Amino acid sequence: MNAPVHSAFANTAEEALAAQDALDTQPMTSEMATEVAMQNTLLTPRFYTTDFDEMDAIDVSPVRDEWDVLIGQMKADPNKGHFKKNEDWDTVDWDGMEPKLKAEFIDFLISSCTAEFSGCVLYKEMKRRGANEDITTLFQLMARDEARHAGFINDALREAGIRVNLGFLTQQKKYTYFRPKFIYYATYLSEKIGYARYITIFRHLEEHPEHRFHPIFKWFREWCNDEFSHGEAFALLMKTDPKLTESFGNKLWIKFFLTAVYSTMWVRDHQRPVFHDALGVDTTWYGQEVFRKTSEISKQVFPLTLDIDHPRWRPNLDRMEAASRQVAAGKAKGGITGTASRVAGMAKAAYAFVSLYTIPAKKNAVPDSPRLEPAY
Ligand SMILES: [Fe+2]
Ligand SMILES: [Fe+2]
Repeated sequence: MNAPVHSAFANTAEEALAAQDALDTQPMTSEMATEVAMQNTLLTPRFYTTDFDEMDAIDVSPVRDEWDVLIGQMKADPNKGHFKKNEDWDTVDWDGMEPKLKAEFIDFLISSCTAEFSGCVLYKEMKRRGANEDITTLFQLMARDEARHAGFINDALREAGIRVNLGFLTQQKKYTYFRPKFIYYATYLSEKIGYARYITIFRHLEEHPEHRFHPIFKWFREWCNDEFSHGEAFALLMKTDPKLTESFGNKLWIKFFLTAVYSTMWVRDHQRPVFHDALGVDTTWYGQEVFRKTSEISKQVFPLTLDIDHPRWRPNLDRMEAASRQVAAGKAKGGITGTASRVAGMAKAAYAFVSLYTIPAKKNAVPDSPRLEPAY
């Protein structure tokens, strides 16, 4: 296989990964980054595996017209070559960066890279295992995009002397099994929330360029458009089988995934106060804004949205965050008191989650055609 000059120009995920590997001619102090990426906690990005045969059996005929348009757009590849440094990439003063900011920002980059790569691994595997041309075409296109995204973040990390070892992660990171319908809910949401996160930061920095402390944020608009189309693809996949979004039991699952994805994001983001300060972003405002956008978008396919203005919403997110800090502190402390505190923290987090989950959801009448264009 001939690797292209840079992952940004790769036509497949495999080419992109080979191009990234070829960049590492010098040894990197990448153990730390890879170690962080290897972590499997409730809050860190995971790798998924699923029943690929069941997914391969999806018949997209009920959404054929919209499907072909979407695949056509993705094949046209408007972002080919985008995910590469160019003259807009300002020099980054890593050594001069405030140490706390540097630590949080690197943590942000590593976890973003892991999340991007997690998508790549799942999509690439679906492409490899499948025989259904509609499905394999889609998944190969999405894997291509995610490999470019992960590669680009690694370009940024490399300047700080670290990188996430993607090949090592593929082989060594634990995989979590999710049945296909859970993959649809979770992946749909993570693509759409990814869009909402990137575009909210991008728009904020357009207004406040003085807070753009790293050039990677300039790339976020085109980036989020890729995530948007990936989300569109999952919306169409869910549309092929009305039961997935209409049955009583599945509505409960959808609510579960919405609650889990939103609260995880809230807790994670509040763990990076210095990073958000540097961006000039109020973390609480940012969280609610991203939830609002994601909820609005998810009306295209989900029959319910969470009531994020409910009086129980914010206090329980904050409780969950405090509980997760208690868990981390207990774990770090160890011993009997540490363990007791950790277990108590987990119980508090579970209680807060139940309080969030039982907030009555808002009903939504889903339109016949789910297709949307990025509007923020
Ligand atoms: Fe991505
Ligand atoms: Fe994506």
